[in-house]
Amino acid sequence: QKNVKIGLLGLGTVGTGVVKTLQTHQDQIEKRTGKHIEIRRILVRDLKKKRGVSVDPSLLTTSPEDLLSDSEISVIIEVMGGIEPAYSIIRKALQTGRHVVTANKELLAKHGAELLELAEKNGVQLWFEASVGGGIPVIRILQSYLHVNRVQSIAGILNGTCNFILSEMARTGRPYADVLKEAQALGYAEADPMNDVLGFDTMYKLAILSNLAFDIHIPPTAIETEGIQQIEPIDIEMAHAWGYVIKLIGSAAYTEGLFSASVGPRLLPVSHPLAQVNDVLNAVTISSDVVGELTFIGKGAGELPTASAVMEDLICLCSGGAGWRIPAFHKDNVQIDSEEQRVQT
Ligand code: NDP
Ligand code: HSE
Repeated sequence: QKNVKIGLLGLGTVGTGVVKTLQTHQDQIEKRTGKHIEIRRILVRDLKKKRGVSVDPSLLTTSPEDLLSDSEISVIIEVMGGIEPAYSIIRKALQTGRHVVTANKELLAKHGAELLELAEKNGVQLWFEASVGGGIPVIRILQSYLHVNRVQSIAGILNGTCNFILSEMARTGRPYADVLKEAQALGYAEADPMNDVLGFDTMYKLAILSNLAFDIHIPPTAIETEGIQQIEPIDIEMAHAWGYVIKLIGSAAYTEGLFSASVGPRLLPVSHPLAQVNDVLNAVTISSDVVGELTFIGKGAGELPTASAVMEDLICLCSGGAGWRIPAFHKDNVQIDSEEQRVQT
């Protein structure tokens, strides 16, 4: 099939980036895949809203059925966020033989195993590179590169909004609430920015990475999580005076059957590699037994970096790639000690 017809769920920050990239890079996509990508319908909430990219208004709809009943649509790109209605629409899309590309880390962390099983059962694929690290291809590294290596730990800065807030507070001394507003205006924050600042977004991303890295089913609730909402300019100043910077760090380790993970603000010596990672950048360090440490840095949020990850998934899909998987069959082997916030397998 030469034309690939897409149903796009959402035309906010990421959806706009996807449409713009399609408009500017169609020739590159055709060169790589031999296929032309066509957007058939776009699901939004508000048909009258001014959009950040020019689209044919007749493509917009508020009814998911308009996409799901269109038999020409073979791929759904979900960039609307949240659990419902995204969960129900994705389930229906997979059940009716559509491939799905999503950026939705909350959905993946909570329902990824089930959705991947559903995709497999229906002979279709679920791709989610954009769900962690924005433009950084960290899912690809875990899924398509690290095979002989046993991953021992993962640590990093996984939320662009929090890193932007902490870096700007350190650079300018501006208060937290002021910088958060700017992060929202730049399109970095979640629809409800409390998901960023309370650490939940990092928690979801760490759960996804842990599933992939350690081949065990980790529910996000197993990760002890604290946010940055209490941090004031004076804390950052004091840390600096002692030679430290404050970063929101997610880290997970798996050794001898014991999984431990946490998310929270941490003091890093100014000489630490992650201490230099500022603005909207994310960084992930993966430690494995053969290769040692690998660190990846790149823009972790925003219109085009995230659209890049979505589009790279779409191109892999169009080129016959196999899609991502989270081991979904380990649930019975896992015991969760809620007091210790640890998972024993
Ligand atoms: P936005 O809030 O900017 O956009 C969401 C879009 O989805 C809007 O177009 C909105 O419609 C539409 N939408 C939301 N709910 C509904 C609904 N119930 N029915 C119909 N349409 C709906 O979100 P983002 O683009 O920032 O994020 C989208 C997803 O990508 C989220 O899962 C997020 O976590 C993830 N992500 C975001 C990144 C970023 O940098 N922003 C980076 C990586 C991942 P309308 O415009 O009419 O309101
Ligand atoms: N709100 C998220 C962040 C978007 O700031 O990192 C990218 O996942």
